[in-house]
Amino acid sequence: MKEYKILGLGGSLLFLNGEFDIDFLKKFRKFILKEIKKGKNFVIVVGGGFTARFYQMSASKITKVVDEDKDWLGIHATRLNAHLLRTIFREVAYPVIIENIRKKIKGEPKLIFGAGTRPGWSTDYVCALLAKKFKAKEIVSLTNIAYVYDKDPKKFKDAKPFKKISFKEYKKLIPSQWKPGLSLPFDPVATKLAERLKLVVKIVFGKNLKEVKKAIEGKKFKGSIIYS
Ligand code: UTP
Repeated sequence: MKEYKILGLGGSLLFLNGEFDIDFLKKFRKFILKEIKKGKNFVIVVGGGFTARFYQMSASKITKVVDEDKDWLGIHATRLNAHLLRTIFREVAYPVIIENIRKKIKGEPKLIFGAGTRPGWSTDYVCALLAKKFKAKEIVSLTNIAYVYDKDPKKFKDAKPFKKISFKEYKKLIPSQWKPGLSLPFDPVATKLAERLKLVVKIVFGKNLKEVKKAIEGKKFKGSIIYS
């Protein structure tokens, strides 16, 4: 089996001021195509970002929406975003978005896109499931925040970043339950699975592709490593 790099592409990275961040997407496309040319293979799981929030928020303004339905809106948002990615990578990407982990993948494509699967978690969990499927040992999670902090850096100026943190310690920092739209470097359900699978999760600011490259190549990078 080919070796695959499992990447989580946080949905918030796709957008800038309520529109697609075209400049970032162009750079991301160039970056991934270059890495593929060098021989790397990728599974990229795409998040919901603005699309997910917009649908969840709009439905909630009209009537009371149960959590499961908020999740379904989020799931379809991730799938739509993943289709955008697949479209701009048409020449190399597997034509089907992975929404069902058990479905067999034909051949060994160089680039595979995944999206939301079931209510109750985020695309981080899908990353962990796909890491298991493709026998990968780590997930590189491209997020809108560079580090895991001991408290919310937006609220607290003295928030301390972690370069390395164990799953045990990380679990103490985050809520243990899932809520739709929860925004964390790595979601609680995915954290439990990643810990059980003994994966390494690398958190890196996704718009800084230089650091993403280092994280993928196993070099020292600006970001956090969550380990067992
Ligand atoms: P994500 O939370 O994975 O998207 O999915 P995101 O935009 O990358 O997240 P942040 O902003 O970087 O943290 C969006 C929503 O879709 C639903 C959840 O409600 C989630 O909040 N979802 C996604 C599921 O219910 N199941 C899935 O498998 C994936």
